[in-house]
Amino acid sequence: MVTAGPTREYLDPVRFITNESSGKMGYAIAGTLYRHGVDVIMISGPVSIKPPIPAEKIIHVVSAEEMLEACSQYFKIVDAVIFTAAVADYRPASWSGQKIKKTAQVQRLEFVKNPDIAYEFGKLKKEDQISVGFALETDDIIDNAAKKLEKKNFDAIVINSPNKEEGFGYDTNRIAIMRKDRTLKNFPLKPKKDIALDILKELETLWTHNILQPGSDPFPLEAGPGCHGDK
Ligand code: CTP
Repeated sequence: MVTAGPTREYLDPVRFITNESSGKMGYAIAGTLYRHGVDVIMISGPVSIKPPIPAEKIIHVVSAEEMLEACSQYFKIVDAVIFTAAVADYRPASWSGQKIKKTAQVQRLEFVKNPDIAYEFGKLKKEDQISVGFALETDDIIDNAAKKLEKKNFDAIVINSPNKEEGFGYDTNRIAIMRKDRTLKNFPLKPKKDIALDILKELETLWTHNILQPGSDPFPLEAGPGCHGDK
Protein backbone atom coordinates (compact mmCIF):
# COMPACT_ATOMS: atom_id res chain seq x y z
CA MET A 1 0.00 0.00 0.00
CA VAL A 2 1.19 3.48 -0.84
CA THR A 3 -0.22 6.70 0.63
CA ALA A 4 0.22 9.71 -1.63
CA GLY A 5 -0.51 13.38 -2.11
CA PRO A 6 -1.71 15.99 0.37
CA THR A 7 -4.88 15.96 2.44
CA ARG A 8 -7.39 18.80 2.49
CA GLU A 9 -9.03 19.93 5.68
CA TYR A 10 -12.15 21.95 4.93
CA LEU A 11 -13.33 25.00 6.91
CA ASP A 12 -16.51 25.49 4.91
CA PRO A 13 -17.82 24.22 1.54
CA VAL A 14 -15.28 26.23 -0.45
CA ARG A 15 -12.23 26.74 1.78
CA PHE A 16 -9.63 24.34 3.05
CA ILE A 17 -6.10 24.12 4.41
CA THR A 18 -3.60 21.89 2.68
CA ASN A 19 0.08 21.81 1.68
CA GLU A 20 2.26 21.90 -1.44
CA SER A 21 2.40 18.13 -2.03
CA SER A 22 1.88 17.27 -5.71
CA GLY A 23 1.68 13.49 -5.19
CA LYS A 24 4.51 12.95 -7.72
CA MET A 25 6.72 10.89 -5.40
CA GLY A 26 3.97 8.56 -4.19
CA TYR A 27 2.59 8.16 -7.71
CA ALA A 28 6.08 7.34 -9.04
CA ILE A 29 6.47 4.67 -6.34
CA ALA A 30 3.04 3.14 -6.95
CA GLY A 31 3.68 3.14 -10.72
CA THR A 32 7.07 1.48 -10.34
CA LEU A 33 5.62 -1.20 -8.04
CA TYR A 34 2.81 -1.86 -10.49
CA ARG A 35 5.16 -2.10 -13.46
CA HIS A 36 7.17 -4.71 -11.56
CA GLY A 37 4.11 -6.86 -11.06
CA VAL A 38 3.42 -6.01 -7.42
CA ASP A 39 -0.21 -6.03 -6.27
CA VAL A 40 -0.41 -2.39 -5.22
CA ILE A 41 -3.15 -0.26 -3.68
CA MET A 42 -2.71 3.52 -3.46
CA ILE A 43 -4.62 5.76 -1.07
CA SER A 44 -4.41 9.20 -2.63
CA GLY A 45 -5.29 12.68 -1.48
CA PRO A 46 -6.43 15.28 -4.07
CA VAL A 47 -3.81 15.68 -6.82
CA SER A 48 -3.90 16.80 -10.44
CA ILE A 49 -1.42 14.35 -11.97
CA LYS A 50 -2.10 11.34 -14.16
CA PRO A 51 -2.57 8.04 -12.30
CA PRO A 52 0.21 5.54 -13.09
CA ILE A 53 -1.89 2.52 -12.09
CA PRO A 54 -5.41 1.36 -13.01
CA ALA A 55 -8.29 3.29 -11.44
CA GLU A 56 -9.45 0.28 -9.41
CA LYS A 57 -6.08 0.25 -7.62
CA ILE A 58 -6.59 3.79 -6.26
CA ILE A 59 -8.80 4.94 -3.40
CA HIS A 60 -9.33 8.69 -3.53
CA VAL A 61 -9.73 10.49 -0.24
CA VAL A 62 -9.81 14.12 0.82
CA SER A 63 -9.08 14.53 4.53
CA ALA A 64 -6.65 12.86 6.94
CA GLU A 65 -9.54 11.13 8.69
CA GLU A 66 -10.72 9.68 5.38
CA MET A 67 -7.18 8.57 4.56
CA LEU A 68 -6.91 6.74 7.90
CA GLU A 69 -10.28 5.08 7.35
CA ALA A 70 -9.27 3.86 3.87
CA CYS A 71 -5.82 2.68 5.05
CA SER A 72 -7.30 0.87 8.05
CA GLN A 73 -9.15 -1.51 5.74
CA TYR A 74 -5.76 -2.73 4.45
CA PHE A 75 -3.56 -2.55 7.57
CA LYS A 76 -4.05 -6.22 8.43
CA ILE A 77 -3.55 -7.65 4.95
CA VAL A 78 -0.68 -5.69 3.38
CA ASP A 79 2.92 -6.91 3.26
CA ALA A 80 4.35 -3.39 3.17
CA VAL A 81 3.27 0.22 3.40
CA ILE A 82 5.09 3.23 1.98
CA PHE A 83 3.85 6.43 3.57
CA THR A 84 4.56 9.23 1.10
CA ALA A 85 1.41 11.28 1.81
CA ALA A 86 1.83 14.77 3.23
CA VAL A 87 -0.98 14.42 5.73
CA ALA A 88 -2.19 17.67 7.32
CA ASP A 89 -1.28 17.51 10.99
CA TYR A 90 -4.30 19.58 12.03
CA ARG A 91 -7.87 20.18 10.86
CA PRO A 92 -10.25 22.99 11.74
CA ALA A 93 -11.98 22.32 15.08
CA SER A 94 -15.33 23.04 13.46
CA TRP A 95 -16.80 22.88 9.99
CA SER A 96 -19.37 25.34 8.69
CA GLY A 97 -22.02 24.00 6.32
CA GLN A 98 -22.37 27.52 4.92
CA LYS A 99 -19.64 29.72 3.49
CA ILE A 100 -18.12 31.66 6.37
CA LYS A 101 -18.91 35.38 5.99
CA LYS A 102 -16.37 38.05 6.69
CA THR A 103 -17.37 39.90 9.84
CA ALA A 104 -14.70 40.65 12.43
CA GLN A 105 -11.47 42.46 11.56
CA VAL A 106 -9.45 39.56 12.97
CA GLN A 107 -10.55 35.98 12.37
CA ARG A 108 -9.16 33.30 14.64
CA LEU A 109 -9.30 29.68 13.69
CA GLU A 110 -9.06 26.76 16.07
CA PHE A 111 -7.45 23.50 14.98
CA VAL A 112 -7.45 19.98 16.39
CA LYS A 113 -4.86 17.29 15.79
CA ASN A 114 -5.40 14.83 12.96
CA PRO A 115 -4.77 11.11 13.34
CA ASP A 116 -1.21 10.03 12.52
CA ILE A 117 -1.75 7.23 10.02
CA ALA A 118 1.83 5.94 10.02
CA TYR A 119 1.88 5.91 13.84
CA GLU A 120 -1.38 3.93 13.95
CA PHE A 121 0.06 1.35 11.55
CA GLY A 122 3.28 1.26 13.57
CA LYS A 123 1.31 0.17 16.64
CA LEU A 124 -0.48 -2.65 14.77
CA LYS A 125 2.38 -3.78 12.56
CA LYS A 126 3.19 -7.48 12.68
CA GLU A 127 6.66 -9.06 12.46
CA ASP A 128 6.20 -9.89 8.81
CA GLN A 129 5.03 -6.43 7.74
CA ILE A 130 7.29 -3.61 6.60
CA SER A 131 6.79 0.13 6.61
CA VAL A 132 8.79 2.92 5.06
CA GLY A 133 8.12 6.54 5.95
CA PHE A 134 9.13 9.91 4.57
CA ALA A 135 10.51 12.85 6.50
CA LEU A 136 10.55 16.31 4.99
CA GLU A 137 12.89 18.27 7.21
CA THR A 138 14.42 21.75 7.17
CA ASP A 139 16.58 21.55 10.31
CA ASP A 140 18.09 18.97 12.70
CA ILE A 141 17.43 16.69 9.75
CA ILE A 142 19.09 13.47 10.95
CA ASP A 143 17.88 13.78 14.51
CA ASN A 144 14.28 14.55 13.53
CA ALA A 145 14.22 11.72 11.00
CA ALA A 146 15.61 9.24 13.56
CA LYS A 147 12.90 10.27 16.05
CA LYS A 148 10.17 9.71 13.43
CA LEU A 149 11.65 6.36 12.44
CA GLU A 150 11.46 5.20 16.03
CA LYS A 151 8.11 6.76 16.99
CA LYS A 152 6.30 5.41 13.94
CA ASN A 153 8.07 2.02 14.02
CA PHE A 154 9.31 2.37 10.43
CA ASP A 155 11.84 -0.10 9.01
CA ALA A 156 13.40 2.74 7.03
CA ILE A 157 12.76 6.43 6.50
CA VAL A 158 13.33 8.47 3.35
CA ILE A 159 14.69 11.91 4.18
CA ASN A 160 14.25 14.87 1.86
CA SER A 161 14.20 18.67 2.09
CA PRO A 162 12.03 21.37 0.53
CA ASN A 163 14.89 22.83 -1.56
CA LYS A 164 14.78 23.94 -5.20
CA GLU A 165 14.51 20.89 -7.49
CA GLU A 166 13.80 18.71 -4.45
CA GLY A 167 10.64 17.66 -2.67
CA PHE A 168 7.18 19.15 -3.19
CA GLY A 169 6.10 19.78 -6.77
CA TYR A 170 9.38 19.04 -8.55
CA ASP A 171 10.02 16.11 -10.91
CA THR A 172 13.36 15.51 -9.21
CA ASN A 173 14.33 14.76 -5.64
CA ARG A 174 17.43 14.23 -3.52
CA ILE A 175 17.00 11.72 -0.73
CA ALA A 176 18.85 9.83 1.97
CA ILE A 177 17.51 6.58 3.38
CA MET A 178 17.96 5.84 7.07
CA ARG A 179 17.47 2.34 8.37
CA LYS A 180 16.44 1.18 11.84
CA ASP A 181 20.11 0.76 12.79
CA ARG A 182 20.60 4.48 11.85
CA THR A 183 22.84 3.69 8.86
CA LEU A 184 22.38 6.32 6.21
CA LYS A 185 22.62 6.04 2.44
CA ASN A 186 22.74 9.23 0.36
CA PHE A 187 21.48 9.48 -3.21
CA PRO A 188 22.21 12.25 -5.73
CA LEU A 189 19.55 14.50 -7.28
CA LYS A 190 17.52 12.32 -9.68
CA PRO A 191 14.13 12.16 -11.44
CA LYS A 192 11.45 10.96 -9.00
CA LYS A 193 10.88 7.83 -11.11
CA ASP A 194 14.53 6.84 -10.53
CA ILE A 195 14.26 7.71 -6.85
CA ALA A 196 11.20 5.44 -6.70
CA LEU A 197 13.33 2.56 -7.94
CA ASP A 198 16.04 3.30 -5.34
CA ILE A 199 13.42 3.22 -2.58
CA LEU A 200 11.92 -0.02 -3.84
CA LYS A 201 15.34 -1.63 -4.00
CA GLU A 202 15.80 -0.66 -0.37
CA LEU A 203 12.40 -2.14 0.42
CA GLU A 204 13.39 -5.31 -1.38
CA THR A 205 16.50 -5.56 0.78
CA LEU A 206 14.48 -5.16 3.98
CA TRP A 207 11.98 -7.64 2.69
CA THR A 208 14.59 -10.22 1.80
CA HIS A 209 16.05 -9.90 5.28
CA ASN A 210 12.79 -9.89 7.18
CA ILE A 211 10.15 -11.80 5.30
CA LEU A 212 11.08 -13.84 2.33
CA GLN A 213 12.65 -17.21 2.25
CA PRO A 214 16.28 -16.97 1.13
CA GLY A 215 16.50 -16.67 -2.62
CA SER A 216 12.96 -15.43 -3.26
CA ASP A 217 12.63 -12.05 -4.91
CA PRO A 218 9.52 -9.90 -4.51
CA PHE A 219 10.62 -7.29 -7.04
CA PRO A 220 12.39 -8.54 -10.14
CA LEU A 221 14.18 -5.22 -10.52
CA GLU A 222 17.20 -4.75 -12.68
CA ALA A 223 20.39 -4.48 -10.64
CA GLY A 224 21.93 -1.02 -10.30
CA PRO A 225 25.33 -0.03 -9.00
CA GLY A 226 25.51 0.51 -5.25
CA CYS A 227 21.87 -0.20 -4.62
CA HIS A 228 21.88 -3.28 -2.45
CA GLY A 229 22.84 -3.20 1.15
CA ASP A 230 25.67 -0.67 1.07
CA LYS A 231 25.51 1.48 4.19
N1 CTP B 1 2.27 10.75 8.42
C1 CTP B 1 1.06 10.10 8.48
N2 CTP B 1 -0.01 10.71 9.11
C2 CTP B 1 0.13 11.94 9.65
C3 CTP B 1 1.38 12.61 9.56
C4 CTP B 1 2.43 11.99 8.93
O1 CTP B 1 0.93 8.97 7.98
N3 CTP B 1 -0.91 12.52 10.24
C5 CTP B 1 3.43 10.05 7.79
C6 CTP B 1 3.92 10.72 6.53
O2 CTP B 1 3.30 10.15 5.37
C7 CTP B 1 5.42 10.43 6.57
C8 CTP B 1 5.74 10.38 8.06
O3 CTP B 1 4.50 10.11 8.71
O4 CTP B 1 5.73 9.16 6.04
C9 CTP B 1 6.36 11.63 8.61
O5 CTP B 1 5.56 12.73 8.25
P1 CTP B 1 6.00 14.22 8.61
O6 CTP B 1 4.91 15.16 8.15
O7 CTP B 1 7.41 14.46 8.13
O8 CTP B 1 6.08 14.18 10.17
P2 CTP B 1 5.07 14.50 11.33
O9 CTP B 1 4.93 13.28 12.16
O10 CTP B 1 3.80 15.11 10.79
O11 CTP B 1 5.89 15.55 12.18
P3 CTP B 1 6.19 17.12 11.93
O12 CTP B 1 5.14 17.63 10.97
O13 CTP B 1 6.09 17.70 13.29
O14 CTP B 1 7.58 17.18 11.36
